[in-house]
Amino acid sequence: MLQGKKILLGITGSIAAYKTAPLIRLLKKEGVDVQVVMSESACDFITPLTLATLSQRTVVTTGFEVANGEWHSHIEMGNWADVMLIAPVTANTLGKMANGLADNILVATYMACKCPVFFAPAMDLDMFHHQSTQGNIQKLLSYGNHLIAPREGELASGLVGAGRMEEPENIVEALRGWFMQSQDFTGKKVLVSAGPTYEAIDPVRFIGNYSSGKMGFSIAESFARRGADVTLVAGPVSQSCSSDIHRIDVTSAEQMFQNCMEAFQEADIVVMAAAVADFTPARVSPVKIKKSSATLVVELEPTLDILKEMGRQKREDQKLIGFALETDNEKENAHAKLLSKNCDLIVLNSLNDKGAGFGHSTNKITIISLDGDDYAFDLKSKEAVAEDIIDAIAQLSRNDLSII
Ligand code: CTP
Repeated sequence: MLQGKKILLGITGSIAAYKTAPLIRLLKKEGVDVQVVMSESACDFITPLTLATLSQRTVVTTGFEVANGEWHSHIEMGNWADVMLIAPVTANTLGKMANGLADNILVATYMACKCPVFFAPAMDLDMFHHQSTQGNIQKLLSYGNHLIAPREGELASGLVGAGRMEEPENIVEALRGWFMQSQDFTGKKVLVSAGPTYEAIDPVRFIGNYSSGKMGFSIAESFARRGADVTLVAGPVSQSCSSDIHRIDVTSAEQMFQNCMEAFQEADIVVMAAAVADFTPARVSPVKIKKSSATLVVELEPTLDILKEMGRQKREDQKLIGFALETDNEKENAHAKLLSKNCDLIVLNSLNDKGAGFGHSTNKITIISLDGDDYAFDLKSKEAVAEDIIDAIAQLSRNDLSII
């Protein structure tokens, strides 16, 4: 199950860092490719040379090697990994991760990661039980990160209680279990659309919207991690995605229509998260429009509704999921969209919810199903929201939405 997986192992400054040597050996025996990233203080507990020898990869301890000018990209490492495991994680690093203090290569890499993150705390029992540590753990869980809880037992201080990092064998078991249960879309072809579209007015101007593409990209990443063969049709965004996703970049609603309809024929599941423009200029000026008059009228004509067209062509074996971004009569409008576009589910975003919709890294959704029920979720990170949406799709495929 772990054979061929790529794991980024982040190590921070705790005595439990010595356990990462047997942990790496166990992972290597399973056929895992391990890339170690260490905080500066972790190097006081175990040497990078030991871990480089065991992992057969250069250990990264800094963003920039003063000796030879070599630069380690936290973005590249974040994109490379199937999973990031931070073990041991100290109270200090937990606080940085929870609050976005990326002052070292390890936390910068954590923040650049698109993959699931597991963290295994190690600290003295009073530090572990402190409100700030517990608050930080709750924050990380709300970001969709996975806790490998510490054990009760004798601690390095001589005290006895919770705070011992979980044993390497059990950490490997937790990862194995997660990979096993998380491959539920293996063999499925999934099409996801994301981002805005830009509708050209002239060579330098366009009509667009504020969509960042984050929600659609998170959905594509989660599907890929869960074994699906993912095609992502992306509007103009600055997001990056992992290399196992087949990404098609488009600009206009027309290009999004062409590429989505082509991929649709092959798809088992389609999630239209893109904010496609509803109107496009009737004529595109081949030259820059000069401000020759006091007013300018741009005539717009409707674009093709991709989701609606898919709903029309949908086969029995396909599942179609749309989004609805609403400002008023949210549920009624979303339910009407579900029916008029012949979808199986609609994911509703209300712009009245703080932290939801465009531009945020969080979202708050309600999933509207054909049985007339709606399932409201709390405000979460877009990664965690993507998992909720995909869990709902998994249950839809099993004809059981009751446990969303
Ligand atoms: N959509 C689409 N093609 C379009 C417009 C929208 O496929 N030309 C899809 C979006 O990707 C989304 C869903 O339709 O999944 C709903 O988009 P939304 O903008 O909320 O609704 P519209 O149908 O455009 O209706 P309105 O703007 O009037 O609310």
